[in-house]
Amino acid sequence: MSLTREDFAARRKQLLERIGPGVAVFFSAPVSVRNRDVEHPYRQDSDFYYLTGFEEPDAVLLLTNQHPDHRTVLFVRPRDPKRELWDGPRAGVEGAIEHYGADAAFPTSEFVEKASEYFVNVRRLHVHLRAHPESDELLFAAIDRVRTRIREGIRTPSEIVTPDESLHELRLRKSPKEVALMRRAVEIASEGHRRAMRLAAPGRYEYEIEAELLRTFHASGANGPAYGSIVGSGANATVLHYRANNRCLEEGDLLLIDAGCEYAYYASDITRTFPVSGTFSAAQRSIYQLVLDAQKAAIEQVRPDSTLDDVHAAAVEVLAQGLLRLGLLTGSVDEIVETKSYRTFYMHRTSHWIGMDVHDVGWYFESGAPRPMQPGFVITVEPGLYIPGDADVDPKWKGIGVRIEDDILVTERGYENLSRDLPKEADEVEALVQSKH
Ligand code: GLY
Ligand code: MN
Ligand code: MN
Repeated sequence: MSLTREDFAARRKQLLERIGPGVAVFFSAPVSVRNRDVEHPYRQDSDFYYLTGFEEPDAVLLLTNQHPDHRTVLFVRPRDPKRELWDGPRAGVEGAIEHYGADAAFPTSEFVEKASEYFVNVRRLHVHLRAHPESDELLFAAIDRVRTRIREGIRTPSEIVTPDESLHELRLRKSPKEVALMRRAVEIASEGHRRAMRLAAPGRYEYEIEAELLRTFHASGANGPAYGSIVGSGANATVLHYRANNRCLEEGDLLLIDAGCEYAYYASDITRTFPVSGTFSAAQRSIYQLVLDAQKAAIEQVRPDSTLDDVHAAAVEVLAQGLLRLGLLTGSVDEIVETKSYRTFYMHRTSHWIGMDVHDVGWYFESGAPRPMQPGFVITVEPGLYIPGDADVDPKWKGIGVRIEDDILVTERGYENLSRDLPKEADEVEALVQSKH
């Protein structure tokens, strides 16, 4: 399954219908230098890819409703046999038309001159300002160029709006093909998690587990991780953005793995937590079960018209009850929820949109209120509890960190848990970890 030229064309058409009269401009992602003359692996900007499928840097997409014949105009790096010998083939201006559906294409070096012609008598430009260090310069140079011609009786663009409203609302609702790609991203990540669980054992290093995840991602055709994998053992599991991944696993540790891959530009984002020696201690199991119960209650809230606040509230309610029962917090459930004292151990939100970007685009609020979800939205549900090693609690709880995260598609009737095949019941998780022995 892959997206076709027609899929990208349909997206551009949808966007043009949404924006009405006007022009939209999208810049490709800049090349990013890692150190000296070594570059980071190039990854196209998500908006740009969503609309074009074009993976080269130094490109600009211009969509217009105000040209008699052209709707899609691409500015790209021209063919250059000498450079291509070093860096691989370029589509070039001809390829932009032939393979990427452009009605017209030009070398990017002609952007200012040509774009200014498409800007004539256009009132509204849809563009992300500060897309990258040079993009504003190019854009305003093109606008200035139109301005030099106002005595010819033409008008210059007078409104610049971000494409958040128009494009990002499209990206938020996933088409069946996008869902299929996300399913694959979830499947590959789940296989990585399974392998990681089998490999983990006292004496292994966190980075060995990370390597197994990355190997699985790459070997399955994913581009790599969708974000830096978190492989946190022992008290490292309580550090939300732990990234060092360099500790040696010890008998009795929990290992928290938050890892997802990017497949065909779509992300998965999955977390599992498990005992490295194959059996939860009693204290670990009670915290684990509490987070699992909270996660299940939260997932049950996912349906059209419910909101991420509903999902979060369900998780918080269960966590508050459990923290009280276990003696980790005092007061009443209402007080814990009201005063947010649960934040001592659960300090992040429960969900975010996920799609081409792991934290995907799309407004979270509408007129000041959490927006109702719709079929085609994909969200994560990822409650956790984090009890730092130096917390002022009974020593048996210290250093326990648990998060459980699944990727959930909103459907007409409710939801589908895309990552449901990756075990998360305490007994199943133990069995999986033990299955290497
Ligand atoms: N892995 C990033 C997140 O869970 O939001
Ligand atoms: Mn995650
Ligand atoms: Mn997440």
